[in-house]
Amino acid sequence: MIEYECSISALPKMIHISQVEPNNFPCLIFSRLHNIHLIREQPLRASNRFIESYSILEHMQDQRSLFDIPGEIAYFNTAYFSPLLNASRDRMITGLNQKIHPWERHPEDFFDDANRVRELAAGLFGGDAEGYAITPSASYGLSTAARAVEPVIQRGDIILVLAEDFPSAVLPWYRVAKERGAVLHTVPVPVDGNWTKAILDQLVPGIRVAAVTSCHWTNGAHVNLEAVGEACRRNDTILVVDATQSLGAMPLSMETVQPDFLAASGYKWLLFPYGASLLYVSARWRNARPLEESWITRANARDFAGLTTYVDAYLPGARRFDVGETCNPVTLPGAIAALEQLQAWGIPQIAETLEGINARLCNALQTKGFQVPDASHRSPHMFGAKLPATYTGNLLQDLRPHKIFLSQRGQFLRISPHLHINDHDMDRLLGVLEEAVRGKLH
Ligand SMILES: Cc1ncc(COP(=O)(O)O)c(C=O)c1O
Repeated sequence: MIEYECSISALPKMIHISQVEPNNFPCLIFSRLHNIHLIREQPLRASNRFIESYSILEHMQDQRSLFDIPGEIAYFNTAYFSPLLNASRDRMITGLNQKIHPWERHPEDFFDDANRVRELAAGLFGGDAEGYAITPSASYGLSTAARAVEPVIQRGDIILVLAEDFPSAVLPWYRVAKERGAVLHTVPVPVDGNWTKAILDQLVPGIRVAAVTSCHWTNGAHVNLEAVGEACRRNDTILVVDATQSLGAMPLSMETVQPDFLAASGYKWLLFPYGASLLYVSARWRNARPLEESWITRANARDFAGLTTYVDAYLPGARRFDVGETCNPVTLPGAIAALEQLQAWGIPQIAETLEGINARLCNALQTKGFQVPDASHRSPHMFGAKLPATYTGNLLQDLRPHKIFLSQRGQFLRISPHLHINDHDMDRLLGVLEEAVRGKLH
């Protein structure tokens, strides 16, 4: 990593950088201590982009106080289970009190929070609010997609899945393939780490369904969903995306990807409480068969006195895919607070800040003998680092006494920070990893 000396004058927007041609700024990113780290080699044309990125990162500093994370904890495990925001906790406590005092709850409370989630999700990720369904998990969303698609699958149809993908994204297709006589075709792990190319190479005419991810859960490998979406439209392939490992952490637009279905667990990068997740359903599937037949998704659901007039019609949009007990009074208010915070931060700004943290970690880990994926195949917010061959210990066990938390998948460490991470956390992680690989921890 090349570090540039920089000083910030009394005027907050005045930045002096030595060694950099004024009209040829490399893409720079600041650490929290105002050191500048070079993360991309391409020069930027407009210098005000640089000032912009400075203000963004100034604005993104000190987000730790929004979470309840003690100073001695360094938590790099969002891809596993994110910490809840304080704002979510507070709204959830209010919701819990409403369940303790049910007389404070109104009939519209069975619907309003879900509609607020739909609106916020559409504002952040595109598509229309009507297209979002409230689900309890990614598994539920992906099983809903498989159930909806199943009737159009014929004997011999090919369903594309990714090698080593998360089971929730693969298992529904095993069942569909078995019951409909379709064939599952697995895209192998690409040796060069380029999942987008690996998928596009297999996405030929005749593939009926492509069940893909936006970011491989094991190591953060990036999939260019826009390119995959375009290929699917060209080949008339149904696109089902598991966006669990990227929705909320990096920009994604329903308009450009145009998935048929896109599901995401809430409890990772969306910062939702456990048990609330999202499913986006494109307009062409909104008449398909849902997973459940619940009263709350029916056209007459608001007429509590007339519920025994059973009606076939569903509520409009993707509401027919909502889970029963849609408006959980504890979890949905927590999810709303999380979406509001994501909106306040801005998804591009979250991605940019996490990219800066990961660039610093990747560069430092490389010098310690770890292998990290090429920056061009990496997602901004998470990455897998292969342990040096000389290390034979149990790293998670080594890290635990230091209160440093991350995941290990085989010989890979999976590092997935969020905005609560500060320089102290990063320094501790790097210091302890250095000691561990040099065999000096014990
Ligand atoms: C890619 C991916 N999909 C889905 C899940 C979890 O699915 P669910 O919400 O059904 O628990 C995970 C959890 O690690 C994941 O990494």
